[in-house]
Amino acid sequence: MPDRADALVLFGATGDLARKKLIPAIYQLTAAGRLGVPVVGVARSVWDDEQLRTHVREVLGARKDTTDGAVTGELVDNMSMISGDYSDPETYRALAARLADAQRPVFYLAVPPSVFGDVVGGLASVGLAKRGRVIVEKPFGRDAKTAAELNNCLSAAFDQRDIFRIDHYLGKESVEGLLVFRFANSFLEPFWNRNYIANVQVTMAERFGTQGRAGFYDGVGAVRDVLQNHLLQVVALLAMEPPIAQDADAYRDEELKVLKQIAPIDPAQTVRGQYVGYLDEPGVRPDSTTETFVSTTLAIESWRWAGVPFHVRVGKNMPGNATEAVVELRRPPRLLFAGRDAAEPAPGLMRFRLGHDDGVTMTVQTKAPGSRTIAQPVDLKVDFETALGYRQEAYERLLDDALDGHRHRFAREDTIQQEWRIVEPILDMDTRPVPYYKGTWGPDSSAIKSWHPVGLQTG
Ligand code: BG6
Repeated sequence: MPDRADALVLFGATGDLARKKLIPAIYQLTAAGRLGVPVVGVARSVWDDEQLRTHVREVLGARKDTTDGAVTGELVDNMSMISGDYSDPETYRALAARLADAQRPVFYLAVPPSVFGDVVGGLASVGLAKRGRVIVEKPFGRDAKTAAELNNCLSAAFDQRDIFRIDHYLGKESVEGLLVFRFANSFLEPFWNRNYIANVQVTMAERFGTQGRAGFYDGVGAVRDVLQNHLLQVVALLAMEPPIAQDADAYRDEELKVLKQIAPIDPAQTVRGQYVGYLDEPGVRPDSTTETFVSTTLAIESWRWAGVPFHVRVGKNMPGNATEAVVELRRPPRLLFAGRDAAEPAPGLMRFRLGHDDGVTMTVQTKAPGSRTIAQPVDLKVDFETALGYRQEAYERLLDDALDGHRHRFAREDTIQQEWRIVEPILDMDTRPVPYYKGTWGPDSSAIKSWHPVGLQTG
């Protein structure tokens, strides 16, 4: 049985990730009666307990979903602050004193990867690593080599079982739902292969740009920020074989197998874009070749998928927000019916909507009204929020898991190594990305001609 943690330490408590994701998540856990442990913020900013509490109140007060004053009160009463440099041994001595009663603390490293070494070494030096768990955020390294170095650094101090690598897409109900949808419904399996599927199109589009994070983003780019992790996880879930059991490793063994079958990305099939105006943002190098858009095609050399292109694209400053996987079915062998607007009917589609308005849409052909026997597409659509009600946010689920020691929604070192192998040929390309205007679908040249329009989110 996993053992529940008895303290949560947020390194980087005053930062961006804490504000946007972690503080709201611990509020929700408090509201659900799932937190119940002291929360210690650690940061370089010189703050006392009261400043942290005021900050947390402000962060929660500015959102629509975290407005219960009693919950906020309970949370902030449980919070305290330690300020100090991450390379200063005194920071860790103070933390060890604060955690004197904690047997199983969890350390969340919401700090830049450049200070991971200091933090992990500091925790080990005061004996906290031996009894704690550590949560690290992607990107895990910058390539296969630095990911291995990071792993060595973490595993020198923490047991592998106590290292939790967050790729928050794995914590999304909608993304995890792909696994259930595929393997709990027998109707899918007969056509879920190269015989019936023509191609798969995965899109992650964001209406906004770097949102004040340009300094960070410029050293990362779209490939490292989301393609190497979130998008490849989605592809793996769509393409993997059924796990042989329900445990964390059985699922991740299958994920690893399918990732191993994906060929390294071909730069000739890849288009990198950069939105116009990016170079003027504060924190961006004037001659930056960082991509804010990438589209490419993955080849999965497996019995099930050989020859089926998996097109993926991600971009900032697109026409709207959308995270979708569209599976295009092959057309029937004998085309009896013309389409309403075309010589032949449009192909059938299965659309997995993974973002805000999540759900599944199947686009099928029906008879168009009228005297002619021609086909017209209609959508069979389910919205999960309507059908299933409220579901928890990814960070809330993942924090709860990490507090419990549940590992199945966290990335494993070997899968991360495979992800880096796949994207390696398109890392650090020194060619200039193709400019595109904000509010467009990226450079013209990126469009495989057959991208299906995506459903933009309303939220
Ligand atoms: C993060 C990226 O991991 O995912 C961001 O660093 C991106 O650049 C975000 O905006 C998207 O997450 P979500 O859950 O809004 O799809």
